[in-house]
Amino acid sequence: MNTLIATIAAYLIGSISFAVVMSRAFGLSDPRTYGSKNPGATNVLRSGSKKAAIATLVGDAAKGWLAVWLAVKFGPSYGLEEGGIALVAIAVFVGHLWPVFFRFVGGKGVATALGVLLGINVWLGLATLATWLIVAYAFRYSSLAALIASVFAPFYYGLLFGADEILFAVVVMSALLLWRHSANIANLIAGKESKIGSKAKGAA
Ligand code: G3P
Repeated sequence: MNTLIATIAAYLIGSISFAVVMSRAFGLSDPRTYGSKNPGATNVLRSGSKKAAIATLVGDAAKGWLAVWLAVKFGPSYGLEEGGIALVAIAVFVGHLWPVFFRFVGGKGVATALGVLLGINVWLGLATLATWLIVAYAFRYSSLAALIASVFAPFYYGLLFGADEILFAVVVMSALLLWRHSANIANLIAGKESKIGSKAKGAA
């Protein structure tokens, strides 16, 4: 029962789309109407507001981190086992992708996945973030950095902790993240993907 409550709570936390919330707070257009139309930090950056993009990144990462941190810290006292923590990790991520508060139109999960990984283990999160930063710095594509980092994340987890239920959650998260980037993959192959820092038409 407690596992079910924790999973639903995590899904609800994940359903808060900080791209939409922060864009409203900063008086910007809805990120679902310009650029890639993705409610995520990368697309909010295309509005030209670095502050709103950073606030989105921090908010979306923080919700992933918070859900997992709470589950790890307090879950065991309420009978939450490793499988329950894995479910919480998947649920907060799924909430971001299909948010109940935003007609199930969510983002691609990069910032939330980072938060989840940091909540599982700081070194796991930092290794994945470092991978993202290196690729982003080298190629200037946010999506490519996310794709490569998400492929590496399960390996980092496996190296640190071996195979368990949480590794399964990390693999599920990475698979969903890759799938959500289908359009980005097509754009990258076609040479049409926009680089970090380029502005979108219609954003204000
Ligand atoms: O944060 C998602 C990123 O990897 C791609 O976003 O807006 O370029 O599709 P976007």
